[in-house]
Amino acid sequence: ETPDFLEAFLRRIDAEEKIEPNDAMPEGYRRTLVRQIGQHAHSEVVGMLPEGNWITRAPSLKRKAALLAKVQDEGGHGLYLYSAAETLGVSRAQMTEELLSGKAKYSSIFNYPTLSWADIGMIGWLVDGAAIMNQIPLCRCSFGPYARAMIRVCKEESFHQRQGYEIVMTLAQGTPEQKQMAQDSLNRWWWPALMMFGPHDADSQHSDQSMAWKIKRFTNDELRQKFIDATIPQAEYLGLTVPDPDCKWNEDKQGYDHGPIDWDEFWRVVKGGGVMNRDRIRARKKAWDDGAWVREAALAHAEKRRVRKMA
Ligand code: 3HC
Repeated sequence: ETPDFLEAFLRRIDAEEKIEPNDAMPEGYRRTLVRQIGQHAHSEVVGMLPEGNWITRAPSLKRKAALLAKVQDEGGHGLYLYSAAETLGVSRAQMTEELLSGKAKYSSIFNYPTLSWADIGMIGWLVDGAAIMNQIPLCRCSFGPYARAMIRVCKEESFHQRQGYEIVMTLAQGTPEQKQMAQDSLNRWWWPALMMFGPHDADSQHSDQSMAWKIKRFTNDELRQKFIDATIPQAEYLGLTVPDPDCKWNEDKQGYDHGPIDWDEFWRVVKGGGVMNRDRIRARKKAWDDGAWVREAALAHAEKRRVRKMA
C-alpha cells in the first residue's frame, strides 16, 4: 500500500464516495469493517436470547406477537450483517467459530439476565434506543453494503424501541407494583445501556481511525450523550428515575451531566465475567450444532441443482 494509494483512498472517503466490496481498499480498512460488522452481527444474534426467554411468558397475545416479530427481526439483522461482512472475504462459518471460541466480541449488554417482563420493555426502550442512536449514523458509513444494511435495520429498530417504551409506559401507569417493577428494571439496565456505546473516547482504541475512514460519524461519547439527552425526558414523563444521582441538566452544555461509568464492570463483562456470558455462548453453540444437518442438506441440494444445470 503506497502513500499515493492511501492518499487516493482518503480522497474518495473525503468526497463521501461509497466504497464497494470489489474496490481497492487498505487492508486495515477491510479488517476494521470485518471486525465491527462481524461483532455487530453477533450482537444481533446473541441479542435474540434474552428476549426469546420471555416469548412463552408474555402477558398477552398482543405482547407475544410483537416480541416474536422483534426477535425474528433481530435474526434477520444478523443475516444482513453477516452477508455484508462476507463481501469482505470472510465466511459466516469462520465468524461463528470466532464467536463460539470467544475470539470475537458481541455487545456486553446481552450478558445481563431478563428477570421480569419489565426487562423486555427496558430492552426495547433502552437497548434498541441506544442501538438506533448508534445505527442511524452507520447508514452513512463509507462502506456501501454496511450502510445499506443499516437503512433496513433502522426502519425495523424504531418499531422495537416504540413497542418497548409502550410496555414500560403501561407498567409505569399501572399498579404501584407494576411501576416498581419498571423502576427496578431501569435500575438494572441503565448503566449497562450506557456502556453499549463503548469506552470513553480517550480510551477508544479504534475511534480516531474509524472516524477518519468515515466508518464512525460520531465518537462513542458523542452518541452516548445524544442517547442520555433523548432518554432522560422520556423517563421523567413516566415518573421513573435513572439510578444516577449525578444526572442533572447542564445549562451551559445544553445536555445532561452523568456520574462515572463503572468500566471495571464493563471490561469484566466484555471479557466473559458477566452473569449470562456462558449461557449465551452455550445456547449459540447448541444452535450451531443442531443446525449442522440443515446446512449440509442445503449444500447437498445446491450441489445437485448445480450438476443438473451443467448436464
Ligand atoms: N460490548 C462489547 N465490546 C465492546 C463494546 C460493547 N458494548 N464497546 C466497545 N467494545 C470493544 C470494541 O469491540 C473494541 O474491542 P475489539 O478491538 O476487540 O473489537 C474495544 O471494546 C475498544 O472499543 P472501541 O471504541 O475502540 O471500538 P469500536 O471503534 O469498534 O467502537 C462500537 C465500539 C461503538 C460498539 C462500534 O464497534 C460499533 O458502532 N459497532 C456497531 C454497532 C454495534 O455493534 N452495536 C451493538 C448492539 S447491536 C444491538 O443492540 C441490536 C439491537 O437490535 C438490539
